[in-house]
Amino acid sequence: MSRWFWLGTSLLALACAEESVEPVASTPELSPLGIYAPLRPAAALDEASDALLRDARKREARFLEAANPGFMLRQSSPSEAAVRAGTYEADALFQFGAQIFHHSFTEAEGLGGADVPFPTRFQRGLRGGAETTSCASCHLRGGAAGAGDPSGNSFWGGDGVRPATGLSRNARALTGAGFIELLAKEMSAELTGLRESCRVQAQASASTVTLALSAKGVSFGQLGCRADGTLDTSQVVGVDATLELRPFGWKGVHRTIREAVEDELRVHLGLQSSFLVQELADIPALIGPNGGDDPDGDGVSDEISEGQLDVLTSYLALSEVPTVELPQTSLVPVSLWPEGRQLFEQIGCASCHVPTLELASSRYRLSSRSGQAELSFDLAVEGAQPKPERSESGALRVQLFSDLKRHDLGSKLAEPRADRGVDGALFMTPPLWELARTRPYLHDGRAPTLHDAIVAHEGEASAARDQYVALGEAGQGPMRVFLVSLTRQRRYAVP
Ligand code: HEC
Ligand code: HEC
Repeated sequence: MSRWFWLGTSLLALACAEESVEPVASTPELSPLGIYAPLRPAAALDEASDALLRDARKREARFLEAANPGFMLRQSSPSEAAVRAGTYEADALFQFGAQIFHHSFTEAEGLGGADVPFPTRFQRGLRGGAETTSCASCHLRGGAAGAGDPSGNSFWGGDGVRPATGLSRNARALTGAGFIELLAKEMSAELTGLRESCRVQAQASASTVTLALSAKGVSFGQLGCRADGTLDTSQVVGVDATLELRPFGWKGVHRTIREAVEDELRVHLGLQSSFLVQELADIPALIGPNGGDDPDGDGVSDEISEGQLDVLTSYLALSEVPTVELPQTSLVPVSLWPEGRQLFEQIGCASCHVPTLELASSRYRLSSRSGQAELSFDLAVEGAQPKPERSESGALRVQLFSDLKRHDLGSKLAEPRADRGVDGALFMTPPLWELARTRPYLHDGRAPTLHDAIVAHEGEASAARDQYVALGEAGQGPMRVFLVSLTRQRRYAVP
């Protein structure tokens, strides 16, 4: 009873605040609408009733939006200044981010552009398109910020008309993104540290030094350092010559969540951040031909603010990590899972899909690009449940089943051309930690089953694939039982 009363009064308060507020430079404090699952869910039964309550709030919010267009987005968009001043707890930033992630953008809010009007289903060169109206309409399978359905594949870099001219890509699940970014940063730091000592050794010995590159136990080939300070990166593998990992995207093209989010807004929704409008001003192929503060010529400027990027980034950075759920009934023989887990190591899958990477520091930092304070979270404390467990040494054991490295998987999976400097045959090892929820598989969603995905591996993965095939049904069954135990924690939701 009191909950429903609260719902009515709090939404009413929001609506009133909305009417009486003048649009001023320092945005007044906002409060989240509380319509998406919280960082820390309550016990099961409470969670079920919370799900109903959130659904009811969502309906009310829809009425408010109908009465007052733009309400939802304004209500979700704190200013960067307020975010950076520490006005909001992690929970509130997470909720604001969830609200924007699920928001259905309108043309009045900047959706699309004169050169890529909504809907532009097939992307046009590097400008992208405006394929749909929300992040959630592509990232929808298996839970919030989930994977993509193949019917929503994106056709990247095509001619805007014929899908076959674009590179077909299936949306990726976004869970655990904060931990992935931090792991990649620690690995990059390890690699660049090695580069420095290689340089120093080469200069001290006045000769060429060759060093094995590895980070968190993952090998990235060899680096040559000459006495004159120049480098030979021809034997570096799986990472750019800069030795900076880019863990996001099927091809491994983005270093950080913010970079990925800002690009996704631009290429899938035609929403341009004020930052990119400045940054890419002289590259109309990326930002649109019109110039000024409205390069996509849709009559809307300042489409995406730094505050909005802060909350969207926080939402994904703070997101839960997937879990392992073992078979619960006696119908599945208990030996299958451990057998499959062991085979996964034995036949070489784990050489790329490295089961666990250990993270030393869970401090996530988001610098400001306008000179304001850094935003920072301890993901191990403030992140959503579930979180990775700690090892005895205190490091966080992130069980993602990836080496965060690019590999050549042969000509059948290869795309016809390079993408942003990454060869057509190279793909980042995708984390497998959510497999039960992310069907279909592979970069273009071509594999309806796990079996199809595994037998499609060639190139560097040929030996492991051949061993999987040689296992026959007796070994393949247990392997698949193990793989589908990788899933997301169950959540109550009202459809
Ligand atoms: C039209 C479908 C579509 C929409 C809309 C969309 N995405 Fe994506 N998203 C994708 C696809 C496809 C990929 C993989 C792209 C690639 O690797 O080339 C992806 C990848 C990502 C990644 C990188 C994930 C990783 O682990 O590699 C992030 C982060 C992301 N999207 C966030 C967002 C956000 C935030 C929005 C809303 C602003 C959004 N996406 C809207 C299809 C979409
Ligand atoms: C040489 C590195 C390498 C090895 C070895 C390897 N994989 Fe992969 N795996 C990849 C890459 C890279 C992709 C992404 C390919 C693509 O999308 O086209 C992938 C994709 C997958 C996918 C699909 C994931 C998704 O989200 O769509 C599954 C499942 C998978 N691998 C399982 C396995 C199994 C099981 C083995 C052992 C038989 C194995 N892999 C061996 C690198 C490897």
